[in-house]
Amino acid sequence: MAQIFLDTAKVEEIREAVSWGVLDGVTTNPTLMMRAGTADLKTNTLEIVDIVQGPVSAEVVSTDVDGMVEEARDILAWSEHVFVKIPSTVEGLKAMKKISAWPHGRINATLIFSANQAYLAARAGASYASVFVGRMDDAGFDGMDVVRQTRAIFDNYGFDCQVLAASIRHPEHVLDALLAGADIITMPFGVLQKMIRSPFTDVGLERFLADWDKVTNSS
Ligand code: E4P
Repeated sequence: MAQIFLDTAKVEEIREAVSWGVLDGVTTNPTLMMRAGTADLKTNTLEIVDIVQGPVSAEVVSTDVDGMVEEARDILAWSEHVFVKIPSTVEGLKAMKKISAWPHGRINATLIFSANQAYLAARAGASYASVFVGRMDDAGFDGMDVVRQTRAIFDNYGFDCQVLAASIRHPEHVLDALLAGADIITMPFGVLQKMIRSPFTDVGLERFLADWDKVTNSS
């Protein structure tokens, strides 16, 4: 089964999605924190953990190995549910290798735009490889191709690393990611809402209720 994550730092959205009974986890990043209007990563992350009771990714902002490792040490100590997001750069790769050697080294390798980057992140011990589908589409590439290629590579070599389809823009991305065999799909709350809504369902329901009204009122 593919897991559904929300790509947001807004606790109201997370609370609502949890009430639907289909949310498995949450991913955040500095931009999403800015949109949620908070700079307190620890408080925000722990509030989200409390609501979702599942994996929550929080991102480092250092760009050098030592800085990333130091931040990761702090972030990972907050809760057993927290995953640390490390950018897929050379420095990031070195940091992943060090962090993944820790017993609690839960890593979400972020900003992945090629299957080669995903392969290297998996080799460095990442638990999740976050492929940014929408941003590749925006740049004129087929982002979902990278999800398919990453899935094939991880299956070929039996990597434990999970394929995470990120930068999801619309429900068709979700459908394609499911068909491509992604392990996790992280999406904005608006996309989750669009997944369940259909005008045909609304019209169908209206007609059922109107007909039921007719039959019950005629007897
Ligand atoms: C992934 O974890 C990222 O937070 C996210 O999907 C980025 O997507 P964007 O292209 O919508 O910023």
